[in-house]
Amino acid sequence: MQEFSGKTVVVTGAAGNLGRATALAFARRGARLALIDLNADALQSAQNDLPAGCESAIFATDVLDGPAVAAMIAGVTDRFGAVHVLANIAGGFAMGPTIEETTDAQWDSLMDLNLRSVFNCCRAAIPRIPDGSDGRIVNISARAAVRGAGHMGPYCVSKAAVITLTESLAEELKQRGITVNCVLPGTLDTPQNRAAMPDADHDTWVPLDALADVILFLASDAARCVTGAAVPVYGRS
Ligand SMILES: NC(=O)c1ccc[n+]([C@@H]2O[C@H](COP(=O)([O-])OP(=O)(O)OC[C@H]3O[C@@H](n4cnc5c(N)ncnc54)[C@H](OP(=O)(O)O)[C@@H]3O)[C@@H](O)[C@H]2O)c1
Repeated sequence: MQEFSGKTVVVTGAAGNLGRATALAFARRGARLALIDLNADALQSAQNDLPAGCESAIFATDVLDGPAVAAMIAGVTDRFGAVHVLANIAGGFAMGPTIEETTDAQWDSLMDLNLRSVFNCCRAAIPRIPDGSDGRIVNISARAAVRGAGHMGPYCVSKAAVITLTESLAEELKQRGITVNCVLPGTLDTPQNRAAMPDADHDTWVPLDALADVILFLASDAARCVTGAAVPVYGRS
């Protein structure tokens, strides 16, 4: 039997770089997948990349919309019965002006994208994780959460808050046997990063499948005693 057979794994940002790699890794280890992202066509393409025989469903959902997220999670449980693993991967990055020049809209946009997204999905999914089912939540923070940087303030703060949210959830859920952890990726080896930084040493970046391996470890039985952790995944950078 494969490690995630019988488990329903919800992956947000499933049409993006890391979301696709993570969904594929879970599928190869037997999981049932609920793929969540904004764009239905992009989700369909991600679903088409899954191996034959993988049970999966797509839910085009804005994870910033609380009621829509609640409806999506209800749809997942109608289809698959429960949620066992939630991988909160939807998120994003933006450089910006200095803090004193940052607009409300710029601030809110990154707090929403990186923090409210995780809050909405956790709030909706947690009641649908059965007691005794070894539930797992894995959030995506960033290396930039550990130390603030100029022109990246809202991004750094939003990802630092993901660590704190992870720790709070871990405390709240440990008696139910649900673990909550996050990863702190350094620069990921994505086409967008290569285009933005063509002269960087790409070999030092984090391959997507390597980060997916860490996410799967945190979702696995082997990590059953790990909760509230923020795991650095920096590659060789
Ligand atoms: N790339 C890096 O170097 C790096 C480093 C550290 C941490 N991270 C984190 O790792 C995660 C994945 O990064 P990535 O490079 O794979 O990003 P990505 O390719 O942009 O994937 C993110 C996905 O989330 C989707 N999304 C955005 N807003 C959404 C919303 N409101 N509702 C539903 N889906 C939404 C995006 O859709 P659209 O494309 O349609 O907007 C996209 O498909 C993010 O949390 C990111 O902050 C990335």
